[in-house]
Amino acid sequence: MLEVLNDADYELYRKLIYDESGITFSDTNRSILDSRIKELLRKKNIATPAEYLAIVQKNPDEMKEMLDSCTTNLTRFFRNQPHFDAFENYVIPHVVEHKKAAGGDKTIKIWSAGCSTGEEPYTIAMIMKEICPAGFDFKITASDLSLKCLMTAQQGFYADAKVDGVPADYLSKYFTKVEGGYQIKDDVKNTIHFDYHNLRNDSGARNLDVIFCRNVLIYFDEPAQLAVINRFYNSMAPQSYLFIGHSESLFGMKTDFEFLKTEWACFYSKNQK
Ligand SMILES: C[S@@+](CC[C@H](N)C(=O)[O-])C[C@H]1O[C@@H](n2cnc3c(N)ncnc32)[C@H](O)[C@@H]1O
Repeated sequence: MLEVLNDADYELYRKLIYDESGITFSDTNRSILDSRIKELLRKKNIATPAEYLAIVQKNPDEMKEMLDSCTTNLTRFFRNQPHFDAFENYVIPHVVEHKKAAGGDKTIKIWSAGCSTGEEPYTIAMIMKEICPAGFDFKITASDLSLKCLMTAQQGFYADAKVDGVPADYLSKYFTKVEGGYQIKDDVKNTIHFDYHNLRNDSGARNLDVIFCRNVLIYFDEPAQLAVINRFYNSMAPQSYLFIGHSESLFGMKTDFEFLKTEWACFYSKNQK
C-alpha cells in the first residue's frame, strides 16, 4: 500500500502525538498511523500531511480530532472477569474497612481512566449498585481522550452483540431492551460522570479509592507510563487500589505501588502509612 507519510512527516506526527498524548507509534505500527492520517486527509479534503499538520498545530479542536483518530478503543462489558471478582470480593470490602476505620467520608470514589465507549465504567457501576454497603455511596468518573467514544458512552446504547458479556440478571435489571440493542438505565448512568481527559495531564482528582486504567498504558512507552502511574499515585487515597490491564505491568518501574496477588486476580495497592 502506498504510504502517505514520508519519513520526515512520520517523525513529525509521531513526535507530536507522543508529546500530546503519550501514545507511542513505533516502526512496527507505523502503517496504522499512516492509514489514520490518510483517512483524515481524505475526509477533510487536505492535500498533504504537512498542510494538515500545520492546521492541527494551530487549532486545538483539530488536535483533539487527530489524537482521537489515533486511539484504539476495543473494550467490552466485564472484560477480564477476575478483575471484577477481585474488585467485588477484596477491593471494595477493604476500601469500606479503611473508610470505617478513618471515620470520615463514606463516598467510594472510582475512576475509569481510558473508559473508551463506556463498557468498563458501566460494569463497575452495575457491580457497585449490587454491593455498595448501606451507609456508603459511590461516585464514578469515566474519562477518555476520544470524544467520539465519550459520546457513545454517554448515550449508553449498545447493539445486541455488544452486551454478550453481561450476565442475564444484570441485563434485565440495568438495561432496557430497545430496537437493535439495549439502553443502559438512567439510575446506572447517573452514577457516572463522563469527562474528556488526556492522561498526559494531571486530572486534579484526589483521594480516589480505586482506579481502573486497563489496556491504555500498553499504547505508551515506559517514560510516559511512569508519568501516568506517578500522577495516579498522587491522586489516590492513602489506602487504595489500581487495576491495569492483564498484559500490562509495573514490573521494573520505580513506583511506590505494591503488587497484590489475591485469589481472584493481581493488581496494585497504594498503602501509605
Ligand atoms: C483499548 S481502550 C481500553 C478501554 C477499557 N479501559 C478496557 O480495558 O476495556 C484504550 C482507551 O484509552 C484511551 N486513551 C489512549 N491514550 C489516552 C490518553 N493519553 N488519555 C486518555 N485516554 C487515552 C483511548 O482513547 C481508548 O479509548
